[in-house]
Amino acid sequence: MTAIDFNAHRRARSGAADDTARLLELEARYCSHGDTVHYTDPPKIFDRCEGSYIFDTEGRRYLDLQMWYSAVNFGYANRRLNDAVKRQLDRLPQVASQYLHRQKIELAAMIAEDAEQKFGQKGRVHFNVGGSQAVEDSLKLVRNATGGKSLMFAFEGGYHGRTLGASSITSSYRYRRRYGHFGDRAQFVPFPYCFRCPYGKKREDCGLFCVEQFARLFDTEYYGVWDSKAQSCEFAAFYVEMIQGTGGYVIPPPGYFERLKEILEARKILLVDDEIQMGFYRAGKLWAIENFNVKPDIIVFGKAITNGLNPLSGVWAREELINPTVFPPGSTHSTFNANPIGTAVALEAMHMMRDHDYEEMTALKGARFLAGLRDLKKRHKIIGDVDGLGLALRIEICEPHDSFTPSKAITDRLVDIALAGDLEDGGRKVGLVLDIGGYHKNVITLAPSLEITYEEIDLAIALLDQLFDRVGQ
Ligand SMILES: Cc1ncc(COP(=O)(O)O)c(C=O)c1O
Repeated sequence: MTAIDFNAHRRARSGAADDTARLLELEARYCSHGDTVHYTDPPKIFDRCEGSYIFDTEGRRYLDLQMWYSAVNFGYANRRLNDAVKRQLDRLPQVASQYLHRQKIELAAMIAEDAEQKFGQKGRVHFNVGGSQAVEDSLKLVRNATGGKSLMFAFEGGYHGRTLGASSITSSYRYRRRYGHFGDRAQFVPFPYCFRCPYGKKREDCGLFCVEQFARLFDTEYYGVWDSKAQSCEFAAFYVEMIQGTGGYVIPPPGYFERLKEILEARKILLVDDEIQMGFYRAGKLWAIENFNVKPDIIVFGKAITNGLNPLSGVWAREELINPTVFPPGSTHSTFNANPIGTAVALEAMHMMRDHDYEEMTALKGARFLAGLRDLKKRHKIIGDVDGLGLALRIEICEPHDSFTPSKAITDRLVDIALAGDLEDGGRKVGLVLDIGGYHKNVITLAPSLEITYEEIDLAIALLDQLFDRVGQ
């Protein structure tokens, strides 16, 4: 009879720990540190994933509340979407972008027909592989339509990516400092961030002062943006995230975007709607812009369209901006731009979104999550604000003495403890994957799987409660 080896599990764990140490040593030596990996110390290595959970190299379980910055909206290892990849892999995984394949055509048609139905505007779709690259394509469309204008409006706190063009219209100078300028530039306009109103107003009686401040720019040519004789604006487009992503999941007040669009339309300024983070039901609708009564000229999308599998991004633009006469063959191109695996999984994702009522699902789950967050806010003074739309939720972490002064230090501690993986779930150890956003890097931006169960939402609230207790009040 074979003796039972009681120490096998412990040895396996210590072997896994040695392997993790070896990988970290190699990473430190051979990987560029230019990405954001080294924001955590030591960097975390994950090994497998399923549903709302991701597991580290030592087998520890983490409830993921940020789902790859909202790229994995439909849960890790989503069977239907993974199967679409496998089918395409066995049929036509590679084909040069100069030829066509069914999935690219059907996907473009589905997106364009949906937009036509919702916004009453004909349009076309151009694909690319990353969000930033699609932003670059949108800049080409904007410049092309406006006689080469390279100045844009964008929001303070806005994020549109880190390629040279995309970082020019991203609010953070930190992303540009080392590299100089390449052409496009933005004037950054305050976002309606009511918890920290840039004008010191209160939402209840502000009369949308902020958007009227923007309107004021066009009162005379001497405010720097408008030639009243030529009736022409120096700025070609306004790049917006309807709900700010990296900026801290900031949700604008009702009426803001409707008024902004009125101003833009009157001055012939294009509205470019960046849906890269908030699209695909993160904010309760296919496009976040559908929460507002506003029509886009261009939509830019990426991330969750493939559930974070083979990357795909793209732009939808009004027909006048993208028809083959104004945007002829060769206007833009990238080897992998409409890659067949990406388009196949994206097409399946679009069908899945059509087959299920994600609007109702995200409204119900979002309400449950937000109710839990509101309850936490009552009990923890470090929480200054909570808010949410669909399953885009925020917790703003502040100094406990006034629940208002932003605290990056407490936020960092919370995220580190969450990632240490030793919170308690009924006697078992578990971690939380959280992401930090916000103008002061003090906002926990929550983007759970849209497939999260109610039990997992309740567990998330319980684990956050433990976490806030651990950092103390
Ligand atoms: C709103 C928004 N725009 C653009 C991007 C850039 O996309 P990518 O990282 O795929 O280049 C991001 C990425 O986080 C984003 O959130």
